[in-house]
Amino acid sequence: MRRYSRISGTGSYLPPRRLTNADLVAKLAKHGVETSDHWIVERTGIRARHFAAPGVFSSDLGLEAARNALTAAGVDAKDIDLIIVATSTPDMVFPSTAAILQHKLGIAGCPAFDVQAVCSGFVYALTVADAMIQTGTASKALVVGTEVFSRILDFKDRTTCVLFGDGAGAVVLEASRVPGILASDLHADGKHADILCVPGHVSGGKASGDPLLKMDGQAVFKLAVGVLEDAARAVLAKAGKTEADIDWLVPHQANIRIMRSTAKKLKLPMSKVVVTVDQHGNTSAASIPMALDSAVRSGHINRGETVLLEGVGGGFTWGAILLKM
Ligand code: UT7
Repeated sequence: MRRYSRISGTGSYLPPRRLTNADLVAKLAKHGVETSDHWIVERTGIRARHFAAPGVFSSDLGLEAARNALTAAGVDAKDIDLIIVATSTPDMVFPSTAAILQHKLGIAGCPAFDVQAVCSGFVYALTVADAMIQTGTASKALVVGTEVFSRILDFKDRTTCVLFGDGAGAVVLEASRVPGILASDLHADGKHADILCVPGHVSGGKASGDPLLKMDGQAVFKLAVGVLEDAARAVLAKAGKTEADIDWLVPHQANIRIMRSTAKKLKLPMSKVVVTVDQHGNTSAASIPMALDSAVRSGHINRGETVLLEGVGGGFTWGAILLKM
């Protein structure tokens, strides 16, 4: 009998400090940077985001999200046999945030590693966990997306600093006789590395180059709308499904206009699209599992429903997963 993987629990965590657009407008004004609630809402749909307190790391946010997912799944941390963390804001250069998170969960021994695919990170991580479960390498995986993007924002650059926030989301993915994950479709094209990057690196005891986020928003926007449609169609074809089979679209939460465009191309009403960008901003690898958890906990997404996850981001990377809850 074929072995599948299926999500048995979801969880998320937002650091308590919430900044509305008005709070951010006031903060930026101190740096002589002009923006407005009107511009941010109209161009992105974002109304608020959360920032982690100093000294709080990706592993700390991931720990809270992981605990919530474990409780929802009714799984004990000691029974987890694989941890994959998607993050572009790791606690350290090394070891991995996954290894640090493993220790904070009070467990040891299972493989733990990070996946770095920026805003597509969670879709990549879930695909890897699914493959490891299908082949019998793991049976109960913890897959986490966690970010502290506030640490890499340039608060003098209004074209990027108003867009991002911090947070974490997690799922427990378990071996199952019934599917679960139906298909996945991942891509990258490194020739677009420059349009969304943090170009700095650590060298000789110092951060060398610019360690703050740079983005050509329009170039990212144009690429994103095209590749998201392609990935959605590819994953539907792989699973032998059509647009009409989608109960919920849980897209990466970068910009409401990108989500509307994807929904339109897939002929999905916005009532089937999970939107959290208004309250979370763009939390990169954390955005999809946080949106998924919020829709599960609010009673919108239910067992047996078909869900399309879609990510796109730096690399350039993109991908989609079609799954049954
Ligand atoms: O997570 C990974 C994926 N990331 C994304 O998907 C992001 C994709 N890109 C976007 O979401 C959008 O391109 C942005 C939200 C980043 C920008 O929206 P846009 O409609 O493409 O705006 P724009 O860059 O064309 O800028 C329009 C105007 C410019 O002024 P001028 O040249 O027309 O006078 C900007 O200087 O808006 C100005 N502007 C701002 N004004 C007030 C840019 N940022 C701001 C700001 N406040 N924060």
